[in-house]
Amino acid sequence: VDLSRVERNARRMAEHTRRLGVRLRPHTKTHKCVEAARLQVEGHSGGVTVSTLAEARALAEAGFRDITYAVALPLDRLDDCERLHRDLDGFHLLLDHPRTLAELERSGSARGLRWSVLLKVDSGAHRTGVDPAGDRSVSLASALHESPEVDFRGILTHAGQSYQCRSAAEAAEIVNHERTLMVDFADRLRGAGITVDEISIGSTPGVMAATALEGVTEVRPGNYIFFDATQAAIGSCSIDALAFSVLATVIGVYPERREAVINAGALALSKDPGPTHVNPQCGCGVLVDPDGQQLIAGHTIVSLSQEHGVIRSDRDLDPSWLPGTRLRIFPNHSCLAAACFDRYHIVRGTEVVDEWHPVRGW
Ligand SMILES: Cc1ncc(COP(=O)(O)O)c(C=O)c1O
Repeated sequence: VDLSRVERNARRMAEHTRRLGVRLRPHTKTHKCVEAARLQVEGHSGGVTVSTLAEARALAEAGFRDITYAVALPLDRLDDCERLHRDLDGFHLLLDHPRTLAELERSGSARGLRWSVLLKVDSGAHRTGVDPAGDRSVSLASALHESPEVDFRGILTHAGQSYQCRSAAEAAEIVNHERTLMVDFADRLRGAGITVDEISIGSTPGVMAATALEGVTEVRPGNYIFFDATQAAIGSCSIDALAFSVLATVIGVYPERREAVINAGALALSKDPGPTHVNPQCGCGVLVDPDGQQLIAGHTIVSLSQEHGVIRSDRDLDPSWLPGTRLRIFPNHSCLAAACFDRYHIVRGTEVVDEWHPVRGW
């Protein structure tokens, strides 16, 4: 992990979102460690977003006080949620189904607490969330608003379709759609007498491309702290912003088939197919020299098995590549690749200055 790049990415996002007039509640799923989360919240309120309760617990123990658990709530984890609810100033849950609300009401009464809840809205990613155009979304928001057992905070969405864009201009269109849809939905709810304090949106491509976010209260990008080969290909950042790389060693060379094999497979780079909609030949990551400065053009990581990565050259294989040669790779998806490791070597320039330990499990 290149610390100077992490610091620069954090600073730029903090300034960009301040200029946009929205609170930054950064997602921490990309790195899953306390040190990077601290850099992300500098200059903002200190609120963070997590995708696992293990991340929430680690951040709570490190002193973070305000955490949104941004997946639709798994109802078998209420004991863990209760501990976090009691330990934190704010611990916010997401739901998109009346059954989850009923369970929260029942368990809240039984446990003597009032859960803080956001309604998850589908703004086009079609993963989870209520359809804001339908009637069921309004009736669920109304039930949340009227329930004495829960504290209804507002609405939240993640327009993950921003990853299908090909340029910052396309990402700007998606974030404008995400903003408008959420502000219009909040207006509709307010028209029905429902209080909506929070309008929370955001993905890295969308927030990076945003120029105005009127009506939105907070954004939750996360990947921007490391960025990755996909973000560079879709126009969210330049290659020199990529802060997470995997240093691999050549373990085999096969000039007759113009291939070399490295000891970084799917358990180091992940099998995320990458930005094939921008470049069908993108392969499994971007290859650079060991210092991370020079792109190695004309070479593609064509396949990954568990512990092997196969690199194919479109000309004769570089004769200087031998077993033991080191190569660096910027993975397609830094969140998934980082989650393969139990520690990150933190480098400033070429010097290793620290080691960070991401939290594992759920
Ligand atoms: C609910 C939610 N919010 C925010 C984010 C952060 O988006 P990104 O990874 O584009 O930074 C994610 C990422 O998956 C998410 O699922």
